[in-house]
Amino acid sequence: MILKKIFLPCALTLSLIFVGACAKKSTPSAADSSAHAAKIKLGFLVKQPEEPWFQSEWRGAEKAAAKYSFEVVKLGVPDGEKVLAAIDNLAALGAQGFVICTPDVRLGPAIVAKANQAGLKVIAVDDQFVGPDGKFIATVPYLGMSATKIGESVGTALVAEMKHRNWSASDTAACVVTFEELDTAHQRTDGAIVALKATAFAGNHIYKTAQKTTDIPGSFDAANILLTQHPEVKHWLICALNDTGVLGAVRATEGRGFSASDVIGIGINGTDCIDELRKSKPTGFFGSMRVSAITEGFRTSEMLYRWVKDGVTPPSDTRTPGIFMTRDNLEQVLKDDQ
Ligand code: GLA
Repeated sequence: MILKKIFLPCALTLSLIFVGACAKKSTPSAADSSAHAAKIKLGFLVKQPEEPWFQSEWRGAEKAAAKYSFEVVKLGVPDGEKVLAAIDNLAALGAQGFVICTPDVRLGPAIVAKANQAGLKVIAVDDQFVGPDGKFIATVPYLGMSATKIGESVGTALVAEMKHRNWSASDTAACVVTFEELDTAHQRTDGAIVALKATAFAGNHIYKTAQKTTDIPGSFDAANILLTQHPEVKHWLICALNDTGVLGAVRATEGRGFSASDVIGIGINGTDCIDELRKSKPTGFFGSMRVSAITEGFRTSEMLYRWVKDGVTPPSDTRTPGIFMTRDNLEQVLKDDQ
């Protein structure tokens, strides 16, 4: 119960110590050795617990836990040290496996080694583990979004809206906020670029700008640099790896005096832009490719549970689709994805 409430990394360390202490002294009495004591425990570890995306994945994991009657231990793991400590703590708690969105995909081999040592099964969600050879670690089951395809739909939707607004290609440019070191991010923004080019949007008006951190300040800074370099651009199309990437860039355009009617930003996730799309007046954040984080959390937890309980090995690579969400269909899309 206590662990279920943990959202902040700083609260995490203290709570883990507390849980560790409880785990040590809790030898179940005969009266206790009921169904509750026998419940399977599974971890769900996420790199950015403050992002609504990951909170939605946790909701999905809880739904699976309620359905199958297992216990889910939700932990925020913003860096490598926290990941390794979390695995130790899961083992101490008697957990049998965990789903993880790692803070760094290159930690993959260390995570696998540690999990094997502790006898824990692992499923990667969102960000696929990468081995020392730079290739994906295919032996760890992975579930994530169809990144290239979803990126392509962003590019197509940007141009469709640009045409709808009758913008001229000559004073319109695309601001692509990138985070190349993460494959799923790279695939999404590359997909968007391919689609922009395919719709005859002038290739030389597509500008990439790298975000150093995957949060709003990171993309705000990246976009600001680009806006300074291109004062000639009158209309901006904006895309990025996710909603926060686009939100930061939209804020940067506002800071430079662009109004909502001169900016079309389309995000990915559909979880981190809900307040933005509900604002009484539209902003430059036009829409998002909504992927169901709840379903991703549910399915990965369900797969892990079956693997632990019945020995059913999960598929090695599962991809999830996205649908286009704007102010017009927002409430309906959210209603359909509970
Ligand atoms: C990455 C991003 C998240 C989210 C997931 C979805 O982890 O950082 O915001 O987009 O992918 O797979």
